[in-house]
Amino acid sequence: MIKTDVQHVKSFINSEEFDHALEQAEKAYQQVVDGTGPGSEWLGWRRILASPNDAELEELSRYANNIRKDADLFIVCGIGGSYTGAMAIIKALNPVFKNNGPEILYAGHHMSGKYLAELIEYLNEPKEDGEKKSVYLNVISKSGSTLETALAFRMLRNWMHETYEDAQDRIIATTGPEGGVLNKIIADEGYKKYVIPNDVGGRFSVLTPVGLLPIAVAGIDIQTLFYGAVSMFEKEKKDRSDILEFAAARSVLHNNDYAVDVIGTFEPELNGFVAWIQQLIGESEGKEGKGLFPAMAGYSTDLHSVGQLIQEGRRNIVETLLVVDQPYSSLKVNEGDDRDTDQLNYLAGKSFHEINRSALDGTIQAHTEGGVPVIKVVLDKLNTQQLGELIYFYELFTAVYVYMLDVNPFNQPGVESYKKAMYRLLGKDN
Ligand code: PA5
Repeated sequence: MIKTDVQHVKSFINSEEFDHALEQAEKAYQQVVDGTGPGSEWLGWRRILASPNDAELEELSRYANNIRKDADLFIVCGIGGSYTGAMAIIKALNPVFKNNGPEILYAGHHMSGKYLAELIEYLNEPKEDGEKKSVYLNVISKSGSTLETALAFRMLRNWMHETYEDAQDRIIATTGPEGGVLNKIIADEGYKKYVIPNDVGGRFSVLTPVGLLPIAVAGIDIQTLFYGAVSMFEKEKKDRSDILEFAAARSVLHNNDYAVDVIGTFEPELNGFVAWIQQLIGESEGKEGKGLFPAMAGYSTDLHSVGQLIQEGRRNIVETLLVVDQPYSSLKVNEGDDRDTDQLNYLAGKSFHEINRSALDGTIQAHTEGGVPVIKVVLDKLNTQQLGELIYFYELFTAVYVYMLDVNPFNQPGVESYKKAMYRLLGKDN
């Protein structure tokens, strides 16, 4: 279950403002439900939950299982909404220091030649038994023309065809239903294709094959993930108070000239999820001179860096903390020696969860006293079902909150500016 807690915002805003914003949040929610807000042709992230495509989920699981049986390495080649969702879930649920099945690597998310050259070098390295690695490549691009992804795909595709006779069966493309360069390549080469529906935008696409195929290849149960989101979709119809309070609190803070939202977590497993939230919110709200800059923070690591600025810097910062309530590791501090040489015996027997929780509570206390309003988003457990719930929770929150700013959440016109300037410098004709 996902809950939000806005009590540490209340002393920074007045109650009339908050109550008014709550009414606005309900109106914005109705715009989402009725499809009457701007960009309503992009509400497919709700449609897919209203009538789940079980056949597609089963097919994806089966196909991913076959890859898992054969692959040493699976490359996710995409940028923005075409890879952040998969990375978020895989990092949250898979072991930190070993692979649960094929190693999952990422490409096409920047234009570093060093990275790509070293990736290809790594692919070329034989396994311990001297055999060559078994590699699969999943290119993901809705438009099929994003330069970062297209360039990496060109280089990796070439490597795949030079390395494997059956390269055609090892390359999977996830893209829009028709049109674009990638669809032409798929038709020419006969690669397996998964479709991103027209009405689902990139950053809202993690529960389509964009995210589901890599997540399933990583060994995560995509039915449980998807139906976690469905359960939140059903719940929201009866009880959406947590989402509306969150949207109301953030919009009041936005309108009161706060500029930065530090989105943090004390669970390193969720750093990837925070990156997904950053992209989802940032690309959705940052238009027409509006938006809070979503800055990522991994705690307690970053309390020893930007924590200083959060505590005592310019007072235009809001903080949102992603919290996991129940412990998912039972590790306790050992007894140490009788002389208490390291002076940590006061912690002996305490669980790391308890200590981490004190760091969280202490941080909330210190930051609010320092003038930073803090919102908590709380999962009771870190598991596949709850991450599915959290995906839809954040998608809906984003749509509601951005409608409250009177902005279209689903487009990204500003992204074109750097592309135009870059293409001009690169001498592209059109
Ligand atoms: O949310 C979005 O729409 C973007 O972040 C896109 O996902 C990103 O630009 C990649 O686009 P494409 O999938 O067309 O390559």
